[in-house]
Amino acid sequence: MLRAKITGTGSYAPEKILSNHDLEKMVETSDEWITERTGIKERRIAAINQTTSDLAYEASQNALKNAGVKAKDIDLIIVATVTGDMPMPSTACLLQSRLDAKKAAAFDVSAACSGFVYGLSIADSFIKAGTYKKILLVGAELLSKFVDWKDRTTCVLFGDGAGAVVIEATQGENGILSTHLYSDGTMWEMLNLPGGGSKNPPSNETIRKGLHYMQMKGNETFKVAVRALENLVVDTLKSNNIKPSQLALLIPHQANLRIIQATAKRLGLSMDKVVVNIDKYGNTSSASIPIALDEAARTGRIRQGDYILLEAFGGGLTWASALIKW
Ligand code: ACO
Repeated sequence: MLRAKITGTGSYAPEKILSNHDLEKMVETSDEWITERTGIKERRIAAINQTTSDLAYEASQNALKNAGVKAKDIDLIIVATVTGDMPMPSTACLLQSRLDAKKAAAFDVSAACSGFVYGLSIADSFIKAGTYKKILLVGAELLSKFVDWKDRTTCVLFGDGAGAVVIEATQGENGILSTHLYSDGTMWEMLNLPGGGSKNPPSNETIRKGLHYMQMKGNETFKVAVRALENLVVDTLKSNNIKPSQLALLIPHQANLRIIQATAKRLGLSMDKVVVNIDKYGNTSSASIPIALDEAARTGRIRQGDYILLEAFGGGLTWASALIKW
């Protein structure tokens, strides 16, 4: 059976660390509030001259090396991001140029925090259709440049980073078993960045109103996320006839430790079966799952044949899952 298999992982996080204590000096907040409400202790912030494609490049190099695949052999590059270098061209094209991946087609996917899992689904479909054999999928975000550092309700949550995987066509039982994508655009206002597009083209007015910053109705989003993710993980396992006890690892999007714990509880999973690194990186949107996956793979938490469940929820609204047999 033709399957899409992750054959290499890689990640990259900028050097600069911004701790909760640093934030206490910038807005009216406390380490205690941030830790209790989110689980975040610190996040990485890109250098002023770094771009999203720079972060994507570093993560991609690590993934390609780990997979033993050369950039020139990649057929397709997908970058999941909502903070690309510029509206045009795609960040994937900029990455293709940096990697010198001459034969690769390249495009971006915009599904906010669910972007990596959406990308995984696209890669899986291309491989199963026989269109491509080697795909580089990257989740990369530079959210710190789109955050209002005076708004304590959002600025404490986000961080910068990138994670990448090489996905190859293989025969056999191991690989991506299924992917499940959902969206509800009626709730788009819960989480958005209103300025800079055709609705509010850049102007002095959009800058004055701060429309170039991310806005989120955190508490409402939280409730929708918990409900959607609880149903999503149960349905994903059911549709594959897999019991929660058969799962080796749950790799959730890292938006809020309380959301992660609620999802794990719904499956009856103990937290040692859940990958959590939100304390170190905050919410890196589409980069959070591939960074967590890379950490888990490199620290020996994943073995061949393991069932691994990925799940994410984000702006759109969007939510998505993938079940993988490693
Ligand atoms: N420091 C101190 N107090 C704060 C801060 C802060 N940084 N931010 C908000 N507060 C205050 C609020 O003003 C409020 O005060 P009030 O009660 O006097 O009005 C109080 O803390 C509680 O605020 P809530 O918003 O109700 O806090 P909540 O427990 O919901 O936590 C949070 C907020 C962390 C944002 C949470 O709602 C959350 O994680 N939401 C989901 C985020 C998510 O999953 N987003 C989707 C993915 S992101 C993407 O796609 C890019």
